[in-house]
Amino acid sequence: MSLRKTPARSSAPRWAAALLLAAAASAGAAEPGAGVFMAECAECHSVAKGKNKRGPSLFGVVGRPAATVAGYKYSGALRQTGWTWDEATLRRYLAQPSDTALAGTKMEYEGLEDARQLDALIGYLRSRR
Ligand code: HEC
Repeated sequence: MSLRKTPARSSAPRWAAALLLAAAASAGAAEPGAGVFMAECAECHSVAKGKNKRGPSLFGVVGRPAATVAGYKYSGALRQTGWTWDEATLRRYLAQPSDTALAGTKMEYEGLEDARQLDALIGYLRSRR
């Protein structure tokens, strides 16, 4: 009797695993920019509030005036821009090498040329607030 019940019980974990995989896949599809962020930016940036790494926290960055994260020491170049990180400004800063986008910036990034990845990334940053 217990032998007959075992297969039915053991199928439950398989169902659970399949559901988890489906959930993970759909979360990934909803946030393709998360993968771009991990690959391109996470070495130097966090999206956690107040967590500065080599670069400042990018929590709530979309719509924020440049160089205003407390406790982060920005370059004079970025402090003097007067920029606000709207979509157009982010695109310009991220689509080309940082020192081309802004001479004197401390950020050393080669630029993200893929327009779809850049769209996804900006969508992801917009959602971190
Ligand atoms: C090698 C490290 C490094 C990488 C990779 C990097 N950054 Fe940066 N980032 C920095 C540093 C350092 C600064 C500070 C720049 C300054 O003060 O001139 C910065 C500043 C910024 C700022 C300005 C923030 C503010 O508070 O004004 C934005 C926006 C930004 N980075 C976005 C990104 C994104 C998005 C990526 C990935 C596509 C990325 N960075 C990749 C190091 C990096």
